[in-house]
Formats: sequence, C-alpha cells, structure tokens
Amino acid sequence: MGLIDLKSCYENLICPRCSCSLHVEQSAIRCTSETCPQAANPFPIVQGVPALIDFDDSVVSLENVLSTSGSSLIRRATHPRLRRLLRVINSPRNRRSEANTAQMLELLRQQTSTSAKPLVLVIGGGTIGSGVEELYAADDINTLALDIYWSPIVQFLADGQRIPLADESVDGVLIQAVLEHVLEPQTVVQEIHRVLRTAGIVYSETPFLQQVHEGAYDFTRFSDSGHRYLFRDFELINSGTIAGPGTQLVWSIEHFTRSLFRSRTAGFIARLSMFWLARLDRFLDPEFSIDGASGVYFLGRKSNSRMSKRAAIEYYQGAQ
Ligand SMILES: C[S@@+](CC[C@H](N)C(=O)[O-])C[C@H]1O[C@@H](n2cnc3c(N)ncnc32)[C@H](O)[C@@H]1O
Ligand SMILES: [Zn+2]
Repeated sequence: MGLIDLKSCYENLICPRCSCSLHVEQSAIRCTSETCPQAANPFPIVQGVPALIDFDDSVVSLENVLSTSGSSLIRRATHPRLRRLLRVINSPRNRRSEANTAQMLELLRQQTSTSAKPLVLVIGGGTIGSGVEELYAADDINTLALDIYWSPIVQFLADGQRIPLADESVDGVLIQAVLEHVLEPQTVVQEIHRVLRTAGIVYSETPFLQQVHEGAYDFTRFSDSGHRYLFRDFELINSGTIAGPGTQLVWSIEHFTRSLFRSRTAGFIARLSMFWLARLDRFLDPEFSIDGASGVYFLGRKSNSRMSKRAAIEYYQGAQ
C-alpha cells in the first residue's frame, strides 16, 4: 500500500488553529507559538494517530474524540469483506472513477521530478472509495490520508476545513464523496488550493441527486456546473458524470419504499430488486444523463487565474 508514515511529513505539519509549525515529541504534538492555546494543550493522540483539529472551530469535539478513541460516530461497515459485498450489491464496478484515478496518477507521474515520488493527500480517507484503489496500490506514489475519525488507513485526524499541512506541501489531492459532508465546502477547496504545489492536481467526486446519507453529517449537493465553479481556482482537465439517472432512480425507489413502510430493510429489498436500473447508466447519452446525474467528478490543476462567473455559464455540459 502506498500509504506512508506520518513521520516523513512532520516538518510539513502546521497548527490547525494558528498555522505555526508543530513540535513533535514522543507522546505529544504541540504548537510552537507561545501565544497559541495549543502550545500548553498538546493535540490528543488516539490509537497512535494525532488529532490535529481546532476543536473550537470544528464539528468534531475533543470530548467525543477522547471518549471514543477517535472512532466514527456513524455506523459503518468497516470489515473489508462486508464492505466489498455491499459495494457489489449497491453499485456496479466504478469504471469511471477507475479511469479518472488512472488519469490523475499519470499526470502526477509526468509532472513530478524523477527523484521524488509524488505525494497525494486523501481528504476523508477513513475508507477507500470505490474506483480509487489504484492510488493505494501504486508503489511510485506516496499517499497520506486524513479523516475526522480514526481508521487503520488514516495517518492523522483532521478537519478538511483546516488542513494541518504547510502551504504547497503536496502534489495531489483526492477528495471523494466528502464535500457534501462539510459545512463549508468552499473553505475546503481553498485549503486544497493552499496545500497543493504549483500546478498540483485535484480529483473530486460529489453526489448531485442523492438522498441524505451519513445522518447529521450531510449538508450540500452540487450540479456538474456548481461543482466546476466550486473549483474555480483550478484549470479544468476533465469533468462529468460518475453515475447517472439509473443509479439515482434505484436510490429513489429505495427511499420511497423505506418511507412508505417505515423500514430500512424494506427499502434495501426494493433496492436489491431494482439494482439492474443502475446498470443502464452506461448506455445513456452523457449530455442527457448529466442533468440527472447521481454524482459528478472534477479533475483539475491548481491555477493562479480564477474562472469568471460568465465562464461558469458557458461551461454547462447538459442537454438543455
Ligand atoms: C461518504 S464518506 C466517503 C469516504 C471515502 N472517501 C469513500 O469514498 O469511501 C465521507 C467521509 O468524509 C469524512 N468527513 C466528513 N466531514 C469531514 C471533514 N470536515 N473533514 C474531513 N473529512 C470529513 C467522513 O468522516 C467520511 O469518512
Ligand atoms: Zn497554534
């Protein structure tokens, strides 16, 4: 697995509260600024992983991190076999994400000097998302993952709205199915821009027409154009539909049945019986299906020039 040891990035860690550098000791990480409260109160370490979070400005509370050892407050299928089974049932093989991840890795290989391996930061990396497995398998890419909860594949707990990494310290950022779960997606994208080196690559996926998931931690949806404009400080490389209206229809049937019978199980059965509708997405015309997409993607390069508001109108890729 291309996940690296956080130790190799210690010099790039910054305080999420004041942006000063951090002093890393054996059992504590503190801020080096005497005026910062985190100088006297070291960041907690849970299950061997530091929680580099400004708890006064995050949805994550220090009390919860300490009482749960950083575990997720949301019920998740963490067992790899169970996750794989659910994935097979829930969604067809995610060829689009696989191709996009391959394109991202190729771009990173091309533009990084031959001596160093490109460093990719995964935001919301508590689980490995569908179709991005190649990133984790690539021996020639270093990967660092953060999430707001602990899992065996995150090297630090952090809030994407305040990434505890120095400016221009990573070559790529992967953020899949996370922007809808943060209160301020624009702030996260600004942070991505800040931590990326010049011409760094970002790959983002986010749902457009999907029901609320992750309970209380679900806030926003983006159309393809809205997602593009969110990344207005990035040059477009590739963008479009991850999954189309067929997938969206299966989800709607599930949620309709769930609500009708007041039962998650009934909804799940309805979804199983209708799963084939999602398989039809691949036969749909991209121009038509993007207006009813269940999810969209954006692959881009950090830029110094901002997309204009009129360019966001010209960008529209749908069929209307
Ligand atoms: C739907 S899951 C997607 C996880 C993974 N990227 C995937 O595709 O399987 C959303 C993830 O975003 C994380 N998340 C939510 N809010 C976050 C925040 N403010 N900063 C970083 N990660 C966050 C959640 O903990 C969760 O792991
Ligand atoms: Zn500080």
